[in-house]
Amino acid sequence: MTNAPDGSQGRFPTTRLRRLRYHPAVRRLTRRTRLAADQLVWPLFVRPGRGLRREISAMPGNYQVSPDVLAEQVAEAGCLGLGGVILFGIPEKKDATGSDALSPTGIIAEAIRQAKAAAPDVLLITDLCFCEYTDHGQCGVPGEQTGRRDVDNDATLARLAEQAVVHARAGADVIAPSGMMDGMVGAIREALDVAGFAHVPIMSYAAKYASSFYGPFREAAESAPQWGDRRSYQMDPAAAAEQALREVELDLAEGADMVMVKPALAYLDVIRLVRDRWPGVPLAAYNVSGEFSMVKAAAQRGWLDERNVVLESLTAIRRAGADVILTYWAPDVARWLE
Ligand code: PBG
Repeated sequence: MTNAPDGSQGRFPTTRLRRLRYHPAVRRLTRRTRLAADQLVWPLFVRPGRGLRREISAMPGNYQVSPDVLAEQVAEAGCLGLGGVILFGIPEKKDATGSDALSPTGIIAEAIRQAKAAAPDVLLITDLCFCEYTDHGQCGVPGEQTGRRDVDNDATLARLAEQAVVHARAGADVIAPSGMMDGMVGAIREALDVAGFAHVPIMSYAAKYASSFYGPFREAAESAPQWGDRRSYQMDPAAAAEQALREVELDLAEGADMVMVKPALAYLDVIRLVRDRWPGVPLAAYNVSGEFSMVKAAAQRGWLDERNVVLESLTAIRRAGADVILTYWAPDVARWLE
């Protein structure tokens, strides 16, 4: 029996795929997918105060911290060689319009300044959305144009544009809009350019699904919607996977520099579709809070080996086609890889 010309169709016993597996060095030699600390982004939560470090109960090992503690975490990210951090601000006072998000002295602006001062070389990505800042927890301005209580798309765009400039002025290196408003990337790009920040890239949460895997995050950011849900703007998990391609295509046309698929593990098919369609576009995947918490909980009970499950999961996300992974395990993984 002989191998087929492409080498893949061989029959037993000429082709024995275990020959690639017997020797550990052959396994290592023939690996394609690698994990590296500099492709990981660590999500961090900041709220007003000093010396504050409040553990998020559903996400053991993750904290809401004050800007001074955040600055230490960002410096730590630098020491560990992480690709960057992504910041989420939680103001003390939330209101209907999320005004803290637009204030140059608001929590996120303050946090960006302190983090930049402490660790100027660490890439600071900022999540751009209103759900952490509004008392109703929706990702924009409420409106009823559709006949239902909902988020007013175009009224929200103007505020997102303003918010992006606040982040850039404070020192954000990359702006990451996560609100899934139509036209958000274009509105933000234009505002940044006009304000003198044409050099600041946008990492768009382009294909973001209305997912129950965000549950623990909503405790972390205190951002659970007080009415309704997010299904009129985040994608339907059961929609054609190719709808994600339309989202990505629009965001790229509007000026997105990097795009994201979120969540990661239940959407590996979407990551692969986007990767195949745009081989040249930097693609990020968000290994979200629920993906973190379920492994953590099982590991705490001794049901799963945390380190191995995490490395396997992140490898799968990379193999599906992601260049960058946002993950709460970023610092742990950096240490494991050392
Ligand atoms: C804000 C935002 C959310 C997440 C990232 N940015 C929450 C949401 O859309 O409800 C979720 C992250 C996670 O679950 O880890 N819009």
